[in-house]
Amino acid sequence: MKQALRRRLRSLILWASTPESGRRDFSRDLSAYPMLNALVEEVGQAYGKEQRPYYTWGMAHAAYLAKNLDIPRITAIELGVAGGNGLVAMENAAEYLDRALGVTIDVVGFDSGAGLPKPQDTRDLPNLWSQGDFAMDEDALRARLQRAQLRLGLVEETIPQFLASDFAPIGFISFDLDYYSATVAAMPLLETTPDRILPRVQCYFDDILGFTFADFNGERLAIHEFNDTHPRRKISPIYGARNYVPARLSHANWTEKLFMAHLLDHPRYNDYDGLVRHPQLEIDRQTRR
Ligand SMILES: C[S@@+](CC[C@H](N)C(=O)[O-])C[C@H]1O[C@@H](n2cnc3c(N)ncnc32)[C@H](O)[C@@H]1O
Repeated sequence: MKQALRRRLRSLILWASTPESGRRDFSRDLSAYPMLNALVEEVGQAYGKEQRPYYTWGMAHAAYLAKNLDIPRITAIELGVAGGNGLVAMENAAEYLDRALGVTIDVVGFDSGAGLPKPQDTRDLPNLWSQGDFAMDEDALRARLQRAQLRLGLVEETIPQFLASDFAPIGFISFDLDYYSATVAAMPLLETTPDRILPRVQCYFDDILGFTFADFNGERLAIHEFNDTHPRRKISPIYGARNYVPARLSHANWTEKLFMAHLLDHPRYNDYDGLVRHPQLEIDRQTRR
């Protein structure tokens, strides 16, 4: 509790002393990337090196899309929480982005609470992981959390329960359940009705590079199967993402883990999202006033 209070105080102090992105002039930029990247850097400065820029990047883009669609509140989800460093980073980003963009971000973490369950078959990569890996100290984690909801139990049960509850539209999901079987069980999040999800969802897939990850196992197989079975909903890499993150981070391997879920059947899929900007049009409009 003390730790959480200290963190909140520190972020408030840093918030007051950090230059807010909104104070800089981004009005002539041709895209929203410079402004969103400035936010990513500010969050890093405010909360330190444990802050995860890939979470902040996805959450900033999700909140910015919501803002452009006049949606005041969204949900950011971490699938697989373990010790909780990722969930805390998500809370930090949510707190900062709420203030910067005026969109409230609810943070929800899903985990068994007891580490990895038994792998079901070879697609869960038992050569890499074993039952009980990444166990959570629930009390220690709860003491660090300020605003996140922790949903403990197997995602095979907790995801349907969550989907039956009331929540703000989903805008960002970090997939870090390691297993193919668990990732498949979490995919119904992307099948929900349009009022409970943004037309495009920022996704981060943690376990897809190096080791023995392949198109026929783990998270990649879950993505392929989702795409094969959903004609109007697709998960795609954000191609060349490394060119669209802060320059300092362009060589980080997480830039290859950034994906976007496209809900082609979403009634708001074609609405202007603010990503490409039209500054000249804006200036013309102002001169005419
Ligand atoms: C690598 S850890 C997550 C690490 C965390 N995201 C971080 O960055 O610190 C993977 C987690 O997925 C959880 N997990 C795997 N399969 C699951 C399932 N079927 N239901 C719920 N949790 C599961 C495990 O409990 C484990 O804590």
